[in-house]
Amino acid sequence: MSKETNVDPNQYIIKNEPFYRPVANEVEMYEAAYSARMPVMLKGPTGCGKSRFVEYMAYRLGKPLITVACNEDMTASDLVGRFLLDKDGTKWQDGPLTTAARIGAICYLDEVVEARQDTTVVIHPLTDHRRALPLDKKGELVEAHPDFQLVISYNPGYQSLMKDLKQSTKQRFGGLDFDYPQEDIEAEIVSKESDVKIDIAKKLVQIAHRARNLKGHGLDEGISTRLLVYAGQLINKGVEPVAACSMTMVTPLTDDPDMRDTLDAAVHTFFN
Ligand SMILES: Nc1ncnc2c1ncn2[C@@H]1O[C@H](COP(=O)(O)OP(=O)(O)O)[C@@H](O)[C@H]1O
Ligand SMILES: [Mg+2]
Repeated sequence: MSKETNVDPNQYIIKNEPFYRPVANEVEMYEAAYSARMPVMLKGPTGCGKSRFVEYMAYRLGKPLITVACNEDMTASDLVGRFLLDKDGTKWQDGPLTTAARIGAICYLDEVVEARQDTTVVIHPLTDHRRALPLDKKGELVEAHPDFQLVISYNPGYQSLMKDLKQSTKQRFGGLDFDYPQEDIEAEIVSKESDVKIDIAKKLVQIAHRARNLKGHGLDEGISTRLLVYAGQLINKGVEPVAACSMTMVTPLTDDPDMRDTLDAAVHTFFN
């Protein structure tokens, strides 16, 4: 650990095992990538298990995890750090990326396309043989701790010309594809996460499958696993299933009245 930080890595260690149901060989592939300290890109729609997977892997590997939710107002300094003024003058404050590099954490940049490209390039020197992060304003070159690894999430559905990663950034990562899990696995996840009976979870998943077919035909994105878990949680609290589905699987998804009718009809096919 670099002497330059007084951050305790323990505060970023995940103490309790997160529930993660593997869907393919992603656990083995990630472990191999981690052992090579290869930067990893998790690709897939919102709410399909990417963040849960990183938490689980950090737990499994026993490494600290530092997550950064990216947004377009984020600057390179938000990642790297900046000088702050205090009563004694100026004091350097490491950003989350710098802290992760120093303490040997897995640094998870969630929804990295949201960040501007001039922000994204600061990760470049950490993702090649250099494994170092120059703090230009401070005049320091931070050599990444041997355990440090960079992980980003990326939703290909939101891709646009204005908002996409440069090839020069993309080609620094190994990629793992994520998607909504296969029917019976997804039902198992929903049942486990929301504590509803498996037959209810199966119905929720079937409704989701109908809605997912509408993607590109009026819906930008299908109903996520996360929303199915929400529906299950309301049902578990005693909410009547049609109302639970309406609140979690219809209302958040679309403002279009026709599309809402279509989704409501799908709900009524399975619950009444
Ligand atoms: N394979 C999985 N194992 C366990 N839970 C899952 C899995 N996939 C999705 N989930 C559930 O879906 C929710 C949303 O997943 P999350 O990781 O937050 O999505 P993402 O980061 O892809 O947007 C989680 O909180 C969890 O309840
Ligand atoms: Mg996430």
